Amino acid sequence: MNVIGLCGSLRGQSFNRMLLQLAGQCLQAAASVVEHDWSAIPPFNADLMAKGMPSSVRALREGIRSADAVLIATPEYNFSIPGMLKNALDWVSRGSDQPLLHKPVAILSASTGPLGGARVQYDLRKVLLFTNAAVLSKPEVFVGQAADKFDDHGKCTDQATREFVQAQMHAFLEYIRWQQVQRMARATV
Ligand SMILES: Cc1cc2nc3c(=O)[nH]c(=O)nc-3n(C[C@H](O)[C@H](O)[C@H](O)COP(=O)(O)O)c2cc1C
Repeated sequence: MNVIGLCGSLRGQSFNRMLLQLAGQCLQAAASVVEHDWSAIPPFNADLMAKGMPSSVRALREGIRSADAVLIATPEYNFSIPGMLKNALDWVSRGSDQPLLHKPVAILSASTGPLGGARVQYDLRKVLLFTNAAVLSKPEVFVGQAADKFDDHGKCTDQATREFVQAQMHAFLEYIRWQQVQRMARATV
C-alpha cells in the first residue's frame, strides 16, 4: 500500500514530521508512507487557477489521487489549522475531479503545549468533510508536550505515544481495507 504523508509544518525540525515518520514506521510491514513536499504551493488565487492549476498543486492532487490513503500530521496554530496547510487543502478542493473523494485519511497532531493540538483536529475534520474524504474517527492521537517526547534525532522516546500511534495505524490499515471493499462494491453497482 502506498500512503501519502502531509506534514502541516514547514519547519525542518518539526515534531509533526517526526510523528509522521513514527506513523510510517508503525505501518512499515503493510504500507510505505512517503511525505509529500507541498511547500511550493502559492497562496490560493482564483485568477491564478483560471490560468490552470500550478504545477505544485497538480503534483499534490496527483499524489493524493494515486495514493491508497493520506496521513496528515499537523500542529495547531492559534487554535486552528496552520494557514499554509489550509491553503494547500483549499487548492486541492477545487475542480470536479476531487482527489480526496472517499480517500481514507488519518489525522495526528503534536504540539509543544499540553493539549497536543486537540482543536486543530476538529477544524481539519470540518474542512475534509467538504471534500468527502473518508476520515478515520478513532482512535485519535494528540501528542502534547512534544518537545519531551522526541529526541534530537527525531526518535520518539515516549512509550505511551508509540503505543497510541501504533494503535491508530492498526485501525487505519483496517479502515483502508474496508474502504477498498466499499469502493469495489460501488464500482459493481
Ligand atoms: C503561529 C503559531 C501558533 C501556535 N498556536 C498554538 C496553539 O494554538 N496551540 C498549541 O498547542 N500550540 C501552538 N503553537 C505552538 C506549536 O505547538 C509548536 O510551535 C509546535 O512545535 C509546532 O509544530 P512543529 O514542531 O511540527 O513545527 C503555535 C505555534 C505557532 C508558530
